[in-house]
Formats: sequence, C-alpha cells, structure tokens
Amino acid sequence: MKAVELKKDIYWVGAVDWAVRDFHGYETPRGTSYNNYLIIDSEVTLIDTVKYDFAETSIKNIKALVDPARIKHVVVNHIENDHVTSLDKIMELCPDATIYITEKGRKGLERFFDLSAWKLKIVKSGETLNIGKRTLLFLETPMLHWPDSMMTYVKEDKILISQDGFGQHIASSARFDDEYIASNSEAELEDAIKDYYANILMPFGAMIKSKIAEIQKLGLEIDIIAPDHGVIFRQNPGKVLKMYLDMAESRADLSISIVYDTMWHSTELMTVPILNGIRDEGVIGRIIKLRATPQSIAIKEFWKSRGLLVGTPTLNNIMFPTVADFLTHLRGLRPKNRIAGAFGSYGWGGGAVKEAYETLQKMGLQTFEPGIEILYKPSAEDEKKCYDFGVAFAQKVKEYHKNFE
Ligand code: FEO
Repeated sequence: MKAVELKKDIYWVGAVDWAVRDFHGYETPRGTSYNNYLIIDSEVTLIDTVKYDFAETSIKNIKALVDPARIKHVVVNHIENDHVTSLDKIMELCPDATIYITEKGRKGLERFFDLSAWKLKIVKSGETLNIGKRTLLFLETPMLHWPDSMMTYVKEDKILISQDGFGQHIASSARFDDEYIASNSEAELEDAIKDYYANILMPFGAMIKSKIAEIQKLGLEIDIIAPDHGVIFRQNPGKVLKMYLDMAESRADLSISIVYDTMWHSTELMTVPILNGIRDEGVIGRIIKLRATPQSIAIKEFWKSRGLLVGTPTLNNIMFPTVADFLTHLRGLRPKNRIAGAFGSYGWGGGAVKEAYETLQKMGLQTFEPGIEILYKPSAEDEKKCYDFGVAFAQKVKEYHKNFE
C-alpha cells in the first residue's frame, strides 16, 4: 500500500501484513500493519522501520517521496523484531544518518546488528531534536511494553508517534480511525483495541496510567496518535486515551466468562447448567471453548468479565493441555481485579480442578472455592450441583464487583 499523508509533509510509509495469523504465538485474525513515518523537513527524518520481510515495501514508499539518501535522522522507538529488523536495509541507503534511541534500546540493538559503522545518539525523556520547522520530543516509556520503548512527539503538528502503545492488529487499506469506522464499525475498532491491550499490555496497567498522567502533566496537545500497528487516530485520539485509562484500571463488566475444554463432552455438559445458574442470578455469561477459539480471543473475552470459570477435564491426573496452556498464557499477563473458580469432570481420579485453582492462586486472583469435579458424564443430580455452583459464583461476582463501582 502506498504512502499516506497524516499532515503536511508527514507520511505513513509502512506496510500492511494482510496474511499474518500468528504473531509470535498470538493469533491475529485481522492481520496487522507495521507503521513507520517519514517527515520531510529541512532534515528528513524517518521514525521507526518495519519487519524485515516488508523492508522493500516501506523503502518503495519512502523512495516515492524522497531520495532515502536525504534521511538525516532515524528514530528507533522500539527494538522488537517487527520494528527494527529492516533497519540495516534503511541504513544502507542513508549511511550518514544518526539513529536516535534509548540506552536500553542501544543495548538490545547491538544484539541484532554491528553498530560500529552507524552514528547513534542516546536520548532520554524530555530531550528534543530540531529538524527544521519541526521539533521532536522524545518520551521514554519503559515497559510499555519493553524496557527500551519510547514515543516521539512532533510538537508543531501535535502528533504522538506511540510505537506499540494504542496499536491494534488490523490489516486494512483504511489508515485512519474514521476511515476504518466508516468501512467497519466503531465497535469493531474498539474490539481490536481491547484485543491488543488484553494480549500485550495487560500486565502494564500501572505504568500506562502513570505515563498518560505524565503526558497530561506536560500539557501536550494531541491531534493525532500514530501507533506502529493498525489505524492512526485522527478523528478521536482522546477516545483511545480514555479507553487505555479504563483498561489500565482493569475495569470489567459484571459478567462471567466460562473458558473450558472437554474430552468426551462431560465438562462441556457442565457448562450449560452453570450458565443457567449465572443467568438466573441476573449476570451475563459467555461460554468459550478453547479448541474452537483463538487463544487471544479467549484472553480478550476473559478480560471483559469480572468473573472467570475455568472448565477442565482431568487427563492423567492433571489439567487438560489446552486449559493449562490458556492459564499459563493468562498467568504471564498478570490479570488483576478478577475472581475465578474451576470445575471439570474426571474418569479414574480427579486432580485437574485442584491444579487449576493452584494456577489461579499463583496469578494472585481471588478464588471462589470449592470448585466442582464430577465423575464421568453429569447426572441429573450433578447438573443441579452445577446450577447451584453457577448461582453461588454469580452471587459472589456481584458482591466482588461492587468494590469497583
Ligand atoms: Fe510491535 Fe513490541 O512490537
């Protein structure tokens, strides 16, 4: 896709990855984009580069606007592979350019490339670079989401180039939020923002709040937020900021996600009476079967809900592998302000429900106990137990939810 102008002489020169469905183990059903930005001022500046297999696409976009040899500054906001693995291809075209990067970024970059031939300038928060009519302000954002991360603010144009922050994994010819909403819907864009946040930024809520507060304290006016993935927010950048503040507070609906897998449908049969009990308590429930749902979607659905019920059969005395995988993924995301329980069926001997509780407790989540574990297929009596479990869990979730209202 060809370059797109954000404001006069400031261009998106990235690439759309329509085909990617596995982004380092995270499912991306909508694809993604690798965004980078070219500012044509007296000193031509490139902000970020793209994933290695899209280097030629981005270089073609740059060449359509300017001779790359004129690039004087290359800002590297983040060194993860999807953003720097074409840096060498860019530097071949502008070998005299200076790279602007954080100290942690430099340490990481030297693991990718021989830096001896490149000019590097280490930058810190608050430092600026004048490129002609414009001034760039660097803002370090450590652990958002890597130690090296930073954002770059174009003062005169009020554009925040936010690297991974505020991104979404969306492949589209729409480059801006208003274009995407017109061709899809606002709800679809919000869903993509939540999906990305839940799977990438969930562990960093406290840092997100403090970084947004820092930006607000600096009094930076923001006309455009330009992330390194997905669409650029020009219609309503305030809305995505507000969404981030809400998500950083670990806000959740008064709802319950039942995330499960099943061997011979017994655990699956338990989900229905549990859901009926939840519904009869006036709480919305949703059932998510792990082998039928991309794990990243299951994580996002969990993240919407105040309550989580994990359903797992016992296989060889431990959790079913897909459930264990889901909980391992979730544990790394360090969820907060959720209450969780577990249930499942077994044949010879149980153990999976106990193990599920141990994992939920390791995450630091409040747990609702005891869970229920039933032998083989649920009987009518077992179904009643499941219903009562759903009722009792929904009551507990309602009580717990009041802490956050
Ligand atoms: Fe888009 Fe942290 O890489």
